[in-house]
Amino acid sequence: MKRYVVMMSVLMALLFFTGNVVFAGAEKDPLKPRVPKDHRGMAKKTKSPIYKKASKASAEIIAEGKKIFEGKGTCFNCHGKSGKGDGPAGKVLNPGPRDFTNCKFHKKRKDGELFWVIKNGSPGTGMVPLIPSAISEEEAWKVIAYERSFCEKYKK
Ligand code: HEC
Repeated sequence: MKRYVVMMSVLMALLFFTGNVVFAGAEKDPLKPRVPKDHRGMAKKTKSPIYKKASKASAEIIAEGKKIFEGKGTCFNCHGKSGKGDGPAGKVLNPGPRDFTNCKFHKKRKDGELFWVIKNGSPGTGMVPLIPSAISEEEAWKVIAYERSFCEKYKK
């Protein structure tokens, strides 16, 4: 009986830890809003000065966004060059970085909400505020256009 209890505890511990290994780096539900409620209305209304909608930005702006994403913005470190959230630093984060190839995510979020998170971070996660420390506001709008383009529908 005692041996059974010991074996069960070992099994439970194993399940618990392998579970954690499997889930480390997994995204927290990407369809739930990240901007806190008291800022969300304003954030949703925030518009880019360089285009009407990030998903409709010109190929030139998207190309500039790619340079920032893979360069000074350091976004690729976590979000991955693929945009899937599989960058080297992203793999160890919990919750994991956003997978920008997920079109459902893009559909749920206004451009202004993405901008808010780049400026203020997503509290309690590895997504820290990156304006103005890494990039300017204008650069953020360009990088948002690039992030949208990971969704096949918005590719140019
Ligand atoms: C240190 C790792 C790291 C870096 C560098 C990083 N991110 Fe993130 N990012 C994250 C994580 C983790 C999340 C998921 C946060 C969450 O689930 O709330 C995230 C989420 C996001 C989101 C989704 C916000 C939402 O509404 O769900 C956007 C947009 C974003 N990042 C943009 C950027 C941009 C642009 C850059 C570069 C300028 C960047 N990130 C750099 C880790 C990072």
